[in-house]
Order: sequence, then C-alpha cells, then structure tokens
Amino acid sequence: MLKWSEEYQLNHPQIDLEHQSLFNMLNDFYQGLSDGSSKERLAQLIKGLLDYAKIHFENEEVYMQSINFPGLKAHQKEHQAFLEKASEFYEKHINGKMILSLEVTNFIKGWISHHINSEDRQYAIHAKL
Ligand SMILES: [Fe+2]
Ligand SMILES: [Fe+2]
Repeated sequence: MLKWSEEYQLNHPQIDLEHQSLFNMLNDFYQGLSDGSSKERLAQLIKGLLDYAKIHFENEEVYMQSINFPGLKAHQKEHQAFLEKASEFYEKHINGKMILSLEVTNFIKGWISHHINSEDRQYAIHAKL
C-alpha cells in the first residue's frame, strides 16, 4: 500500500489531488492482487491506472510549460518511460505472458513515490509553490 502523506504535497491543489488519485488507484490494484481478483479485473485496474497517469502527465506538462519550467523536456522523458513500461506490463498481462504481481506493484509504487518527491518537486520549487 502507498499511503498519502504531507511529504508528497507540492501545494498545487489540482496536481496534489491527481497524485492522490494515482495512489488510490495503485492501492485498488494492490487490493485486487491480494483478493485474488480475476485476470480481467486486474487488467481493468491496471488499464485505469495507465489511462489516468497519461491524463495526469499531460496536465502536468501543460502546467510546466505555463511556468516555463526549464526541466520540461527531461521530465517528459521520465513520463514517457513510465508509460512505456506500464503499457508493457499491461500488454504482457492481457496476452497471458505475465501474471501481474507484487513486483509490478512495487515498481509502480517505487516509481510514483520517487517521481513525485524528486522530479515533480522540481517544478514546485521553480514555481515557488
Ligand atoms: Fe506527477
Ligand atoms: Fe511528473
């Protein structure tokens, strides 16, 4: 489980809410794994998380552009790399090549918490939020 706490807060109300939603979606997925949910249900949960991450990243990139954040390009690459990796997990899962496991959860969990606290925080600092 990934617990939201103040350490993740960037003081941008919309983005903080989106980050909380990502946490919730990851926890739902984790819950699904622990409950032994069906392959279809797990696929649905991971797809939901992936689609929401895409929307969140787009919103964030628009925001970074609006504040002329100099690290935008590098940050976009980080987002892209995550989406590629998460899509790969999803594709493998629906093609029956991989059972979505705690390893996948741990990758997503580690990536999200690290990304918010080190990468996202940079634009918050730049914008003096
Ligand atoms: Fe973010
Ligand atoms: Fe980001």
